Amino acid sequence: AIDPNFETNMEDVGEEHGVTVWGPTEPPEELGVRGTHVAVDFDICLADGACLEDCPVDVFEWVDTPGHPESERKANPTDEDQCIDCMLCVDVCPVDAIDVDPG
Ligand code: SF4
Ligand code: F3S
Repeated sequence: AIDPNFETNMEDVGEEHGVTVWGPTEPPEELGVRGTHVAVDFDICLADGACLEDCPVDVFEWVDTPGHPESERKANPTDEDQCIDCMLCVDVCPVDAIDVDPG
């Protein structure tokens, strides 16, 4: 599962697809955690897609990640600013790749 304390245990290594990247990263195999209020561990995400289908405000969009061992696309929390903290995505992700931190 995603580390809920990624903000202290990982480091901000920049920005991609409009959100903060928490690393270290070593593309294409190691992609780190993406986003802050809505965070997705790209190294755990296996492109199930439930988060994209269920988010009521369409926070997520697919980004291609060719060469990643788990899946060749990931759910990027591009519109994390729109999140209404319903927690659906956290509940439906089969591999607990998402952390939403209200407040
Ligand atoms: Fe979307 Fe709800 Fe997840 Fe926020 S908590 S990203 S609104 S599904
Ligand atoms: Fe990935 Fe979980 Fe969404 S596996 S696509 S973050 S439901």
